[in-house]
Amino acid sequence: MSHFVFIISLLTVCAIISFSSGQQRSVNITDDALLEISSRLYALDVNGAYDQLELNLQSRTSSGNRVDKAPLPLFRNGIPKNVFSRPTYEKMLSLFDNYLASVNETEQVTPQEKAEEAAFFDAVFATEVIKATHKFLVAQRLAESNVERFKEQLRNIWFGLYQRAPGKQGSSGFEHVFLGEFKNGISGLHSWVRFVTEEAKGDINYLGYTRTMSIGKGAVGLIEMPMKFLGVYKPHSTLMIGSSPELEIALYSICFLTRPDSLCPIKGNATSGISTRYQIQTFVSKFQGRRYLGSAFPTF
Ligand SMILES: *[C@@H]1O[C@H](CO)[C@@H](O)[C@H](O)[C@H]1NC(C)=O
Ligand SMILES: *[C@@H]1O[C@H](CO)[C@@H](O)[C@H](O)[C@H]1NC(C)=O
Ligand SMILES: *[C@@H]1O[C@H](CO)[C@@H](O)[C@H](O)[C@H]1NC(C)=O
Repeated sequence: MSHFVFIISLLTVCAIISFSSGQQRSVNITDDALLEISSRLYALDVNGAYDQLELNLQSRTSSGNRVDKAPLPLFRNGIPKNVFSRPTYEKMLSLFDNYLASVNETEQVTPQEKAEEAAFFDAVFATEVIKATHKFLVAQRLAESNVERFKEQLRNIWFGLYQRAPGKQGSSGFEHVFLGEFKNGISGLHSWVRFVTEEAKGDINYLGYTRTMSIGKGAVGLIEMPMKFLGVYKPHSTLMIGSSPELEIALYSICFLTRPDSLCPIKGNATSGISTRYQIQTFVSKFQGRRYLGSAFPTF
């Protein structure tokens, strides 16, 4: 843990977080409760593609190594069409052309794009994963029981625009976490769906892995690696493999609300008989008095 993360974690222990509605709630959720809900969400993740994906890991490399140790793609079979036709994937993929990749450009959200965001959230909210997430957050007094208000809360966290460059509302949590952005290099881009899509187009170059981990679902649950996106090198990148869009939205939202700016304990398949525990790091971006998702990614 860096000093920065450590200090921030200490601060958040006594922190009060504010709802998008302006209400204030204190946070006190045990690690055990987070391990329990995360493994329950994994068990409910019927849209996950854990067994449909085959990774071609090739060679191990190191963070900072720019040499391509993996001439072939990471995803051996390219885009999994049968998975991408499922509603939450299909709706999420329709959002991928809605953003300007540079943080220096203000995003203009058209009515069409707003409708696409709403359709994505409608699909996500139809899943058992989000229903269980809602129940958990209501019990923890971090969400309202009214579904529409909960949806609005998550919509603000994920799609609310904020600034990473002065005067430019060029970022959202969704864009950062799922698509990735250009600032000084690439930041974000933690979605395997995005990775395989861009890799299939030839825009992402997989260079080899530094670490992998099993979460008891599919062969590989997490991967850590350097990579290149549109020729720009990122020394350290982590992805969950096979998780559905709704599972990623659920886990990252829970961690944003319960362990903001710190590490959040997560458990994969609880009945797998192996250690499937990992962590999610979130960062909060504050803009005009509101809290948005600055970043969220898995870490070993
Ligand atoms: C937080 O939760 C723990 C364990 O449930 C409890 O012992 C402690 O008193 C709680 N603290 C606050 C401030 O509510
Ligand atoms: C954004 O602007 C800053 C400051 O002018 C510059 O350093 C950076 O390279 C720009 N980034 C992109 C992706 O345009
Ligand atoms: C969890 O792991 C067990 C043991 O490997 C396996 O039988 C089961 O199918 C896994 N569950 C899920 C939901 O993948």
